[in-house]
Amino acid sequence: MEREKTDKLQAVIDKYKGVKGALIPVLQEVQDLFNYLPDEALRAVGKGLKVPLSRIYGVVTFYTQFHLVPQGKNSIHVCTGTACHVKGAKKMLERIESLLGIKDGDTTEDFKFTLKSVRCVGTCFLAPVMMINEDYFGELTEKKTEEAIKQYN
Ligand code: FES
Repeated sequence: MEREKTDKLQAVIDKYKGVKGALIPVLQEVQDLFNYLPDEALRAVGKGLKVPLSRIYGVVTFYTQFHLVPQGKNSIHVCTGTACHVKGAKKMLERIESLLGIKDGDTTEDFKFTLKSVRCVGTCFLAPVMMINEDYFGELTEKKTEEAIKQYN
């Protein structure tokens, strides 16, 4: 682990020491720091907060927001809910897979993108929809999909 990150990790742990219910916020901050939750960092969190490692792993594997493997800098979530499915979500997903050379659930080798299909992102009126990080892209066509991804390249 790089020195700078180790210091930042320690600062996060110190900030929450003795605080009740701190585990989830700590994990969120640690994940923001590394873009995933490395084992080494989880061990440091366990030691610092006096929480058994087994409990930490229990929490990390329960919540889908936490990742144990490195994620891409940008997350692409393609909605495959009913409304989007009817309007061609599968085709959009396949287009992205071929564009990035990865499959649903994977991360590109350069760690620029992680691709995931999800069920309904709550904007069915814009179907088919995808999200890149916090941004929504609706009424997707293959061209729009490609252009949207290029903005994050
Ligand atoms: S089904 Fe895709 S946004 Fe609702």
